[in-house]
Amino acid sequence: MKNLLSIEKLARADMERILADAVVMKRERNRHKSQPLAGQTWALLFSKSSTRTRISFEVGVTELGGRPMFLSAADIQLGRGEPIKDTARVMGRMLHGAVFRTYAQSDVEEFAKYSGIPTINALTDAEHPCQILADIQTIQEKLGSIAGKVVTFVGDGACNVPVSWMFAAAKLGFELRIASPKRFQPSAALLKRANGQIICTEDLKAAARGADVLYTDVWVSMGKEAESATRIKALKGYQINQSLVKLAKPGALVMHCLPAYRGKEIDDATFEANAQTIFDQAENRLHVQKAVLKWAVS
Ligand code: CP
Ligand code: NVA
Repeated sequence: MKNLLSIEKLARADMERILADAVVMKRERNRHKSQPLAGQTWALLFSKSSTRTRISFEVGVTELGGRPMFLSAADIQLGRGEPIKDTARVMGRMLHGAVFRTYAQSDVEEFAKYSGIPTINALTDAEHPCQILADIQTIQEKLGSIAGKVVTFVGDGACNVPVSWMFAAAKLGFELRIASPKRFQPSAALLKRANGQIICTEDLKAAARGADVLYTDVWVSMGKEAESATRIKALKGYQINQSLVKLAKPGALVMHCLPAYRGKEIDDATFEANAQTIFDQAENRLHVQKAVLKWAVS
C-alpha cells in the first residue's frame, strides 16, 4: 500500500515506474487484463471545485474495476467541522482508498496517517502531484525524454503547480525557469528543499529564450479569490502569447494545466494554436492516475 502525497516525497524510482505504466494504460485502454481495484470502493473527497481531476479519477477507478464514491466536503460532516482524523478513521474502516483535494497539505497527510488506506493528493495549496505526472507524460510523448530539457513556468510561481514542478526538476534532471514578479516567486526555503536546477527571474523574455516548454497556470488559484484584483494587477504581462513563443525553441510545447483564463495568463490565439497539446495533457490525467492507483494498491 502506498500514498501519493507530493512530488517532493515521491521516490524517483516510483515516479519512473508510474510514468512507464501510464504509457501502457494509455495504449491498452479498454483492454486491461488486470483489474487491480476489483471489489474496492474509493472516496473522492473534494473541498474545492474540479472538472479534470474529478472526472479522470471517477473514470480511472471504474476502469480498474473499482467503484468511485464522490464526496463533496461540504456535504459530509467534515464541512460542519468534524475533524479530519475522525473522518479518516471512519473512511479507513469502510473504504479501500481515497483521493483528496483540499487546502492544507497537512490535512492530506493527516488523512493518510489516520485512515491507513492509500491516499492520493488531488491538489492542495502546496502541491498538485497528479498534474505534474500527466504533464511529464505529455512531454515524454512529444519530446522524448524530459532530461536535459528546459521548462519555463510563467505566472504565479509560488502556487501548487510550479512547486510540484520544482520537486520534479531534480528527480528527472531538467532545468526549470520560473518567470514571476518577486512576490510570486517560490521562497528560498522551498528552492533549497527542491535542490534542482531552478532559476527564478522577473525577466520573462530571458526565461523563455530557448525553452523546450512554456507552461502556465491561473493567476488566481482556488482559495485566493479575495486577492483577485491585486494578483491580476501584479501578474499583468506574465502571459504566454505569440511574441513570447517566438523566443522559445522552434516547435516548443505550450502547456496549461487548465482551467485557462484567456487574456490573462495566456492569450486566446496561443491557447487555440496549442490546443492539441493542452488537451492531450488533460487526457493524460486519466492514464497517469490509473498508473498511480495501480501503484498505490501494489
Ligand atoms: N488541472 C486540474 O486539476 O483541473 P481541475 O481543477 O478541473 O480538476
Ligand atoms: N493553481 C491552480 C491549479 C488548478 C488546477 C489552483 O490551485 O487553483
